[in-house]
Amino acid sequence: MKNKDGFRIENVSAASIAEKTGTPVYVYSQSAIEKNWAVFCDAVSVFPERTVCFAVKSNANMAVLRVLARSGAGADIVSGTELELALRAGIPAGKIVFSGVGKTEEEITAAVKAGIKQINAESAEELETIADIARKTGQRPVVGIRVNPDVDAHTHAKITTGTKGAKFGIDWTDACPLYRRYARSDDIALSGIEIHVGSQLLSEKPFRETFKKTAAMLRDLESDGVRIDTVDVGGGLGVPYRSGESALSPKTYAALLKEELSFFQGEFVFEPGRFIVANAGWLLARVVRTKRTGGKNFAVLDAGMNDLLRPALYDAYHDVVALSGKEPDTVYDVVGPVCESSDVFGRDRTLPELEAGDYVALCTAGAYGATMSSTYNCRPLAPEVLVKGDRFAVVRRRQTVEDMMGVQLDPDWISG
Ligand SMILES: Cc1ncc(COP(=O)(O)O)c(C=O)c1O
Repeated sequence: MKNKDGFRIENVSAASIAEKTGTPVYVYSQSAIEKNWAVFCDAVSVFPERTVCFAVKSNANMAVLRVLARSGAGADIVSGTELELALRAGIPAGKIVFSGVGKTEEEITAAVKAGIKQINAESAEELETIADIARKTGQRPVVGIRVNPDVDAHTHAKITTGTKGAKFGIDWTDACPLYRRYARSDDIALSGIEIHVGSQLLSEKPFRETFKKTAAMLRDLESDGVRIDTVDVGGGLGVPYRSGESALSPKTYAALLKEELSFFQGEFVFEPGRFIVANAGWLLARVVRTKRTGGKNFAVLDAGMNDLLRPALYDAYHDVVALSGKEPDTVYDVVGPVCESSDVFGRDRTLPELEAGDYVALCTAGAYGATMSSTYNCRPLAPEVLVKGDRFAVVRRRQTVEDMMGVQLDPDWISG
């Protein structure tokens, strides 16, 4: 998205957005989101029955959710607030699936009352809670079991979820009897299975292994007389973060699934997050100052790990580009202002010579960027901007000190 006028997002100069809103600021391209959504949906259209549920945890901006809702998206949620946001964005309850190891009774009750598509239970104890709540509300929710397939996704340890010993899901040996126990339950319709092995998967292997295991599980259940209507394969499709990195295409991913589970006659649910929004988002930041120490050049940005946590949390790589579009000729460690040595966006990055006031973009920041941000160091949450063609709008304003102070309360023995 670079041309002679500098870095552009759709038809808008990124620097003009930064000037208008200040930095740091997240910017999303509506067209890129819509295109990614269409590419994914087209790939999985080989399955006659399917629901694609956007993983709200990857980007929960209301404007982004509304764009996706208008494209026909369902939602994969992991909290009561995500349920509320998805519904308010116009995503029908019948297209919402709910995962998460720690759903509270309140959250389960809200999901049951809303009549969502499926609740994915992550323990025998949770199944019991869902059944109890269902009995009280008089509704019969559709429930799936999130099964831990014990597959190593060979992704970063902190985004692997499907290996034995992980907190997610239920071991297959324990899940199987649960299906039998609830097969004729009046309280819940236990008719789904969910398998999500991890995020940012770039190769076929872990997906193939997972789908093979799923096929074996389905056959086990069938021979036990248990009927499964829905196979929820979770999310996980990776995206390239650095140039030259290759990722699995949604078409290859769908073909793998078809190959391994062609016998399954029911519905498939997909929960993509990163694939839909990662490359549709940038975090724009300003160089506060440059400094040289220890034989290194540092570019200190006004964005920090509180705004974009992935590098500090997962050693994640994000391309850093200067909005000026000048020739890169100087090597910098690009760092944030937060008082943590892990507040580093990239080491030894070649950029044009930078000076205070220059703008840079942290690329591929649309997924797990704003949603993971915090106010650490009392830094306000960054605003978010949506671009469409040659227009842009602030879709979440920058948090103010008043917003932050507004939730602070004095005990009656300390006066302000
Ligand atoms: C259960 C579940 N579904 C879907 C996703 C979305 O994954 P991704 O953004 O990698 O597609 C996640 C992310 O960790 C998840 O835990």
